Amino acid sequence: MVNTKVNLCGLELDNPVIPASGTFGYGEEFSALYDINILGSFSFKGTTKEPRFGNPTPRIAECSAGMLNSVGLQNPGIDEVVQSILPKMQTYFHKPVIANIGGFSVEEYAECAEKAAAAENVGWIEVNISCPNVHGGGLSFGTSPKAAAEVTKAVKSVCQKPVIMKLSPNVTDIAEMASACEQAGADGISLINTLMGMRIDLKKRKPILANKTGGFSGPAVFPVALRMVYEVYEAVKIPIIGMGGVQSAQDVMEMILAGATAVQVGAANLREPMICKTIIEELPRLMGSLGISDLSEIRGAAHS
Ligand code: SIN
Repeated sequence: MVNTKVNLCGLELDNPVIPASGTFGYGEEFSALYDINILGSFSFKGTTKEPRFGNPTPRIAECSAGMLNSVGLQNPGIDEVVQSILPKMQTYFHKPVIANIGGFSVEEYAECAEKAAAAENVGWIEVNISCPNVHGGGLSFGTSPKAAAEVTKAVKSVCQKPVIMKLSPNVTDIAEMASACEQAGADGISLINTLMGMRIDLKKRKPILANKTGGFSGPAVFPVALRMVYEVYEAVKIPIIGMGGVQSAQDVMEMILAGATAVQVGAANLREPMICKTIIEELPRLMGSLGISDLSEIRGAAHS
């Protein structure tokens, strides 16, 4: 018998597998496909203070071993989420959920986080300072250690729930960003968000995405994400959620060996909606075959 339970910032998860924000909506559609209560948790669609329609289309482009998105934080706004979606979520998801929030100013992040954290079924606040698809928000806070620290402090000052800062890979030194968030009081770090990329339509001789650039995700980014999780583990003491191209139980184990406490699955949900169920079923078998009885035995074991 193996133990897949992990402790994420004081809350126990049945397993480390968490669908990533932006690939699972608010969970309802997936709950029609399988019992999503088997998940460790899930991170809901990045939610902002005001409702957002997102960027013009086309906002998806396919690539070898991955995809580009420039969705632009389409969401119904935090008030609708807190008043309607989170109460309804309790009918199909009976565990604490991760509230992923976005913002265009420090004040907006704080307001959104405070409202989300007050909901009883929110377990953690994941602060997206890494969206590459909006101007004047998201990534502009995630590429400067000073700005990232400022957002962390503001959110922490209004939240009683654990605050996890979601980092961008589009920086020179990811460890410096993580340390700045930890020093400002973050309870955890999640990484990586998407890598900025582009595709061009040969006939039109123009970028495929209306936004010109988008965030690249999928299996091609896994080695980059793993390397960054490994580097951040050496820089901080707070828990890490690893993500980026994860699509199998093997990938989950590699992330944990690099130092992750939990692991998010993103683009793979869009290609194979049952992927998290498959990974959750495969994980105990893989642990058994490797002689691992508890995931805490191997966390960070790739560091010597
Ligand atoms: C988006 O809505 O543009 C994706 C969210 C993100 O990349 O942070």
